[in-house]
Amino acid sequence: MKKFGVLGFPVGHSLSPLMHQSAIDFLEIDAVYEFCEVEPSKLNCFMKRVKTGEYAGLSVTVPYKEEVINHCDELTDVAARIGAVNTLYFDNNKLIGGNTDWYGFIRALEEGCLDFAAKEILIVGAGGAARACIYGLNQAGVKPYLVNRTKSKALELTEDFEVEVVDFKSLPKAQIVINCTSVGLKKDDPLLLTAEYLSNGVEVVFDLIYKNTPLVSEARKLVIKNVDAKRMLLWQGVMQFKKFTGMNAPVEVMWKSII
Ligand code: ATR
Repeated sequence: MKKFGVLGFPVGHSLSPLMHQSAIDFLEIDAVYEFCEVEPSKLNCFMKRVKTGEYAGLSVTVPYKEEVINHCDELTDVAARIGAVNTLYFDNNKLIGGNTDWYGFIRALEEGCLDFAAKEILIVGAGGAARACIYGLNQAGVKPYLVNRTKSKALELTEDFEVEVVDFKSLPKAQIVINCTSVGLKKDDPLLLTAEYLSNGVEVVFDLIYKNTPLVSEARKLVIKNVDAKRMLLWQGVMQFKKFTGMNAPVEVMWKSII
């Protein structure tokens, strides 16, 4: 029986085991998909086991998307460009680090706004999540605005991507706003952007945090369309499933398992 899993710390909240196992069961593949909660001090040891082939493939989540790069034999061009790995799999006995987050993001955005490429887009945040989103947008020919609490980090991204860095104090108008920060994860987190800004022409909000953040509820109040971040989870998993098994993912089965 083949083994797959999701590597992270903590990882108990992840919906990936439900989603991938439902697809495995539906296609009657002889495999199991596990939670791999690995403490930082045990990561090296765990990755040694991975390299011996104990797992046929792994999803990678917080906080290891960057650290696992050091353990890969090769990175895909996309993962190298984004600087983060969310998918580990084998090809010719080599451990490959790939990235499917950008694809999940673009598919979800497209579902929420078919003509997104014709809109002004504001990305908030300059970490790994933002890099994956900006990569996807650049692939679609879009140069987004980028704003970050620490402006120097935003400016660093201009070396790798097509973005225009802007200030919180003088934000340009945008029709689509994307939250790539961790603001909204904690219970008392503030609203990421003011209601005044959101009311001034914003048509679509995409909060990568898949819960009811202050930004999501403010958008709802203002009758602005929210993109469901679970659609990103779905689509990145669909691409991942193909890498893991070589088979086309049963998209509806996976979707039903996580809603
Ligand atoms: P990830 O890999 O998930 O993107 P990260 O690399 O830690 O995570 O990046 C987190 C992002 O959230 C950063 O853009 C961070 O801004 P800084 O670069 O200024 O640290 C942003 N962020 C986190 N807490 C924030 C806060 N309270 N207000 C504004 N931005 C915040």
